[in-house]
Amino acid sequence: MNRRSTRLKRSALVLSAAGMLVAAGFAVLPGSASAATTLGASAAARDGRFFGTAVAASRLSDTAYTTILDREFNAVTPENEMKIDATEPNQNQFSYTNADRIVSHARGLGMQVRGHTLAWHSQQPGWMQSLSGTALRNAMINHITQVATHFRGQVTWWDVVNEAYSDAGDGSRRDSNLQRTGNDWIEVAFRTARAADPDAKLCYNDYNTDNWSAAKTQGVYRMVQDFKSRGVPIDCVGLQSHFTGGSSYPSNYRTTLSSFAALGVDVHITELDITNAPTAAYTNVTNDCLAVARCKGITVWGIRDSDSWRSGESPLLFTSSGGKKAAYTSVLTALNNGTSPTSPTTPPGSPTTPPPAGSCTASITPGTVWGDRYNTSVTVSGATSWTVTVAITSPQQVTTTWSAAFTNAGTTLTVKPNGSGNTFGFTTMTNGNSSARPRVTGCTAS
Ligand code: G3I
Repeated sequence: MNRRSTRLKRSALVLSAAGMLVAAGFAVLPGSASAATTLGASAAARDGRFFGTAVAASRLSDTAYTTILDREFNAVTPENEMKIDATEPNQNQFSYTNADRIVSHARGLGMQVRGHTLAWHSQQPGWMQSLSGTALRNAMINHITQVATHFRGQVTWWDVVNEAYSDAGDGSRRDSNLQRTGNDWIEVAFRTARAADPDAKLCYNDYNTDNWSAAKTQGVYRMVQDFKSRGVPIDCVGLQSHFTGGSSYPSNYRTTLSSFAALGVDVHITELDITNAPTAAYTNVTNDCLAVARCKGITVWGIRDSDSWRSGESPLLFTSSGGKKAAYTSVLTALNNGTSPTSPTTPPGSPTTPPPAGSCTASITPGTVWGDRYNTSVTVSGATSWTVTVAITSPQQVTTTWSAAFTNAGTTLTVKPNGSGNTFGFTTMTNGNSSARPRVTGCTAS
């Protein structure tokens, strides 16, 4: 029996609410709230965030590797298999075998996929390296169109452009054959990706953009600000966050995350690894993401130290033999107990009409969607003591709840604060109706 059918059978057998929580990576503690026991489940319980990993197709036959992958993560990024040299080794001849293997493994287990990457100065096949000018611009457009079309409906987020800024310290673009086709190459890449897959979220991804004071960070910030002001389609910014001895976790990292978020884009931590995996830095990164509502998830750049592109530095959450490191426990603990998400910074000039006394506002944010269930989070404003009612459409059923006190009467959820803050969430099984979504029917301040 393969792993997928094992999992499906196991899901079908798990009929009690407690059993369902265990299957989803939750430990049910008698008389207390449930605590997630895997990275993916605990991140999902924090407003539907993801906790992902880079995956190499060549390791999918290693059961020690897939055991951890399948248990711990709810998102994947192909480490090399979607890069230009892998997907278009000869001009206009596309090769998707290894990328498809990863996508099918991930989606078969309900994980989301970050596509990486459509346009990059590095990992170009020889034919592309030798192109310039209009021929290169057209080849880039064709590549993005073909690859994003192939993965349409399967990739949730694309790193459309990777590493386009220089390390010169002046916030300028990196010199590359793509840059030499004209400064508009990045926005052309984003518009092309949007046309090929209108539903995918489109990200700009880079390294050394973690420190808010760094010229490179400011250069990327200005580009995103410019794109948002001119309507260039960009949805998210990825901070790779490869923290090493020479580029350590900066104390203003949270400011970087919240500043990008305030531009109206989501923020992802896309390639996290930290030399020698210090618990404090891993905890800080996790708490910083949890503190920014638009920080939608964290991806570590590999599972075990032996899987890392810099394995000599032991930068990941699992030992080479698959054991959980102290940093793993720190991250899981932070995900389960960390600070509550804050609302995004209100842009200057936004209306800030307070709700009338005695009332409050509850707004829904859709979360992760799987084949058979989806997450919803609700944020209450205008009161700290409140009762919110939410209508569910039968035959859908709420199975898991977090960060508030719930009374579940079938199609009506009644929710009150339990000291966890003003954002709560729940998982709804679709039970065959995939279109209905929960509605807030009341918010009363008390
Ligand atoms: O698979 C071949 C193997 O058959 C061959 O014998 C061997 C000898 O050269 O090469 C193997 O391929 C290597 C591949 O990793 C798989 O291990 C490539 O040479 C090597 O260049 C490639 O390195 C990857 C690197 O990107 C390429 O730029 C790393 O795995 C990958 O982790 C790294 O990821 C990047 C992100 O895409 C962008 N951000 C930085 C990050 C780290 O450099």
